[in-house]
Amino acid sequence: MNIILFGPPGVGKGTQGIRLSEKFFIVHLAMGDLLRAAVKEKTELGVQAKSYMDAGKLVPDLLVMGMIEERITASDASNGFLLDGFPRNVAQATALNQMLTEHALNIDHVIFMEAEESCLIERLSGRLICKGCGFGFHRHYSPPKNDGLCDRCGSELYQREDDREDVIEQRLQVYLKETQPLLEFYSDVDVFSKVNAMKSMDDVFHALEKTVQG
Ligand code: AP5
Repeated sequence: MNIILFGPPGVGKGTQGIRLSEKFFIVHLAMGDLLRAAVKEKTELGVQAKSYMDAGKLVPDLLVMGMIEERITASDASNGFLLDGFPRNVAQATALNQMLTEHALNIDHVIFMEAEESCLIERLSGRLICKGCGFGFHRHYSPPKNDGLCDRCGSELYQREDDREDVIEQRLQVYLKETQPLLEFYSDVDVFSKVNAMKSMDDVFHALEKTVQG
């Protein structure tokens, strides 16, 4: 099964993407995580991507397209994949369609997660990420059991560079201009659905699960 999960920054794509991919035994391909790993490893792509990410802008399409093609055709994606944070604009969505055709792959669900801007800002500004395993927490909504430490692996938690107030504002602007038009792009696709993400994490998960199970 192949799924596209999209929506604004902080809506919960990563949180739900992990749960859904575990539930349906598919690989979770989070473009932001792939890019942050490249930045950490200081690969050529990572070095080029860093300045865009720190400024809350999209990394150029050419850089991300190759990464996605490699991952959706890798052996660990043979049971399916969940794309989180890709595509992010109409050019990427168009290129993805072409790529899927070339590899004889289909998308089974395109799901848009929606929430109001005030909710997104609250979620992003309170987010904490594990330095070790990358698992996400929230200061108020899903605090770690031990202050500043990951429940899963015990590593230190940190705030993402792009979760600063000024960068959040820029990311929301970029979302409106670049990513929101995907709603129209996918609106006439018969596997398209919307899920209200302004509920508890469990309620959102159950709504997504129901959408996927049909
Ligand atoms: P990326 O990492 O993809 O960032 P994003 O899309 O802005 O999304 P986030 O990861 O910030 O949020 P999320 O929706 O995953 O929310 P989460 O589950 O963490 O991309 C980062 C950068 O990489 C981009 O700015 C760009 O530069 C670059 N990039 C990425 N993809 C690209 C592409 N395709 N092309 C070009 N450039 C690209 O949840 C947020 C918080 O809320 C957490 O603390 C969580 O615990 C909490 N939370 C989640 N759900 C709930 C709930 N239901 N109730 C209460 N709290 C909740």
